[in-house]
Amino acid sequence: MKNNIYVIGSSNTDMVIKSDHIPKPGETIIGGNFYTFQGGKGANQAVAAAKLGGKVTFVCRVGDDYLGKNSIKKYETYDINTEYIGIEQNEHTGVALIMVDQRGENLISVSSGANAKLKIEDLSFLEKKLLNDDIVLTQLEIPIDVVKYLITICSKKNVKLILNPAPYQKLEDKYLEKVHTITPNITETKYLTEIDITDIDKSKLAAKKLLDKGIKNVIITMGSKGVFFMSEDEMAHIEAENVDAIDTTAAGDTFNGALATAFSHSIDLIKSIKFSNAAAAFSVTKLGAQSSIPSISQLDKKFQDYVYS
Ligand code: RIB
Repeated sequence: MKNNIYVIGSSNTDMVIKSDHIPKPGETIIGGNFYTFQGGKGANQAVAAAKLGGKVTFVCRVGDDYLGKNSIKKYETYDINTEYIGIEQNEHTGVALIMVDQRGENLISVSSGANAKLKIEDLSFLEKKLLNDDIVLTQLEIPIDVVKYLITICSKKNVKLILNPAPYQKLEDKYLEKVHTITPNITETKYLTEIDITDIDKSKLAAKKLLDKGIKNVIITMGSKGVFFMSEDEMAHIEAENVDAIDTTAAGDTFNGALATAFSHSIDLIKSIKFSNAAAAFSVTKLGAQSSIPSISQLDKKFQDYVYS
């Protein structure tokens, strides 16, 4: 049984230059090839959830320009329901300027454009539509009042909300306590808990601090150090898969989209994290955001069985 996934978030066009290294402030370098990719944390997560076997509705705002129209068409090719995507007049679609170095590490600056115009009213349909078994997935690349509203309605309707707190924006504890699953990376964990994740003991401390706020599941994504998970009755460190990184852009997004799909198929937590970890590992071996996300058929047979059985 596959439940609905609602992804509420940003949609960007990524302009990417691949270079030997990322320039320092004040430095000009001659980089390598230039690429344009579909991106945005919300869109990447929606596409990941759909490509990996989820039934996805994506809610965002794009500009009244070619990039926005093109993005909607792309989302439809993945069978994503786009009926609640708004087109903001006189605004540009979100754009991200990205530099990727030889090790696959990146640096990203986003011009939000239409993403900053997403409004609470854009979600009014959701309050009526949400069912108890639905999964809601969001990030912080949209206005924070929209995220607060979303957390409030999900908690009222007892719907599982996954919050990927990226890029970090402050959320008061009265909102965090209502979150079902939070998925910060190391940087976001530091903002949320003031704890530097230097080893697994520090991950435990940070996860416990977040659990104590009332969050049910804490999943800290640590890149090459794997994933640390803690809930009230379970704790696990899941090692990263060993892959040659080409581009880490959207690895976190692939993880989150995969997690939503796994939850929507009612897969248990540890298996869900392993599934998401495998999808994220695949994504770092390819260049770009949505272009790097695997389809379910590109994952190991045992992961395909999670979704098809
Ligand atoms: O997480 C990666 C994404 O961050 C990129 O696709 C870019 O658009 C920014 O939103």
